[in-house]
Amino acid sequence: MCGIIGYVGHQDAFPILEQGLRRLEYRGYDSFGFATQHEGTLHITKSAGKISGATLTPLPGSIGIAHTRWATHGGVTDENAHPHVDCSGSIAVVHNGIIENFQALRAELEKKGHSFSSGTDTEIIAHLIEEQKTDFVEAVRKAACRLAGRFAIVAEHAGDKLLVGVRRGSPLIVGTGKDELFVASDIPAFLTHTKTVMYIDDGEFVVLSTEPKFFSIETGEPVTKRRIEVSWDAADAEKGDYPHFMIKEIMEQKETIQRAIHQDDNEIQRIADAIKNAYGTFFIGCGTAAKVCQTAEYLFSRIAQRHVNFVPASEFASHEHFLKENTLVIAVSQSGETADVLEAVETAKKKGAKVIAIVNVTGSSLTRIADTSFLINAGPEQAVASTKATTAQLALVMMLAYATAGKLDEGRRLLVDTAGMVNDMLNPRYMKLVEGIAKQMTNKRNAYIIGRGLNFPMALEAAIKIMEVSYVHAQGFAAGELKHGPIALIQQGEPVIAIIPQDETHDAMISNVMEVKARGGFVIGVSPKNNPEFDAWIRVPDARNASPIVSIIPIQILAYYLGVARGCDVDKPRNLAKSVTVK
Ligand code: G6P
Repeated sequence: MCGIIGYVGHQDAFPILEQGLRRLEYRGYDSFGFATQHEGTLHITKSAGKISGATLTPLPGSIGIAHTRWATHGGVTDENAHPHVDCSGSIAVVHNGIIENFQALRAELEKKGHSFSSGTDTEIIAHLIEEQKTDFVEAVRKAACRLAGRFAIVAEHAGDKLLVGVRRGSPLIVGTGKDELFVASDIPAFLTHTKTVMYIDDGEFVVLSTEPKFFSIETGEPVTKRRIEVSWDAADAEKGDYPHFMIKEIMEQKETIQRAIHQDDNEIQRIADAIKNAYGTFFIGCGTAAKVCQTAEYLFSRIAQRHVNFVPASEFASHEHFLKENTLVIAVSQSGETADVLEAVETAKKKGAKVIAIVNVTGSSLTRIADTSFLINAGPEQAVASTKATTAQLALVMMLAYATAGKLDEGRRLLVDTAGMVNDMLNPRYMKLVEGIAKQMTNKRNAYIIGRGLNFPMALEAAIKIMEVSYVHAQGFAAGELKHGPIALIQQGEPVIAIIPQDETHDAMISNVMEVKARGGFVIGVSPKNNPEFDAWIRVPDARNASPIVSIIPIQILAYYLGVARGCDVDKPRNLAKSVTVK
């Protein structure tokens, strides 16, 4: 993950870029850099290290780009910091994402005489643009056509009073002010200057000069866009001053998935090896954490072809006879204080089993009694309904599954991609859409959620979320079980949320949706693809094995808005507590 900001206008670009970078620092902070344009020349400064704390000398000009980096290709050095330039030093590029075919492109460009000064994939973009030998905008488009992978790019050329932003898979948003334009990875980067935004969609590029102009990368044809006003207040966004902790924590998932996967690879691999050699592995937890543990069964089966057991911590005592010295118990808990979890762990330890904790609160009881602890680094979670801890736990469990399969790097790449997709999803337009669907459900007494495979446990978790914050009776089912009883509950207008990823469960899920429709159910599809059978569609990205992460987030949002619309105390639901320290 990296942060990008660009500015074209009538003011000095540098202070605006600097302020924007500081707001984007959560996206990565191992190096930073700027490139501005003044009197037909590029002025560049870049450095390894954090921008916060750095003393900067302003660069001249009213056009510029800037970047804060989270290293993927190439170590953390001054040379690898963005922006990167072509051979002539007149084209500068900042980039977020990964160019998958960069080695082949670099070899091709080197053969043609281009010389490189960094180890990044980004630098090839500047040279590839240079190589097109046509006008700058068309050169960027042609270069983009040759790039494989997921990325966002902003490029400038000395003497052309414009910026070109390209998006395929990584976030990039345009802000429009009075006689000035912004482009950034996230809205808060320019929120003190404008609340008017325009979304670049995947496969498009934008030219920013006087008016933003959008085009398709593939065809070069113009694309029409709407201006959208965001309701965020700049100060609120900075302070994280949301009306409730729950929505603040939902939004924090832009960062927390990334933080969860920031682990010591050797430790992850050591535990993965222990799982391979264990006499049985149990995943235990309570409430939402238990649903993460249940998902672990599917993840390990799918990714590592290995059987692990899920047991709710409160039921663990019944399984103690299966414990041996080389049994592994993986306890998942946000607080690390849940009584049923602690008791189960004590039982396991008495039998000589090894205990691994996946926990959020450092120094909690669980971390003290476990043999090894992984911290999910989600920051304090204060709303009773767990949101950001859930997806962070899912990410960490996924890393373990990939490591067990000997594919830790592949797992990390998927999760880095997924973190980018989540960042993309959590935009004001998306929140409004989900709020609208929640409002349609305000007066409903029941809601049902169905899923298969990886997303069956997420259907159960979705029911917990809706129930606890809105008090609407909600139940989750394995979609295939629907016709063995639950379908009797479906009546005219009854909301049924169907989680349908782009995997092998897709077609069977659509059949189940049709069974619901035939009984008058109101179907809300949570899916990367719309379907004529859906009455409402909540679009989610296609995150492959990480689909539980991207599927549960919109349902957290739905539950939140449903609770608010029904006048519930969403942060402190009745009868519940954040940390359940009694049996
Ligand atoms: C309570 C909370 C849930 C949480 C569960 C387990 O029921 O309301 O949000 O999932 O406890 O808590 P833990 O701290 O062990 O994850």
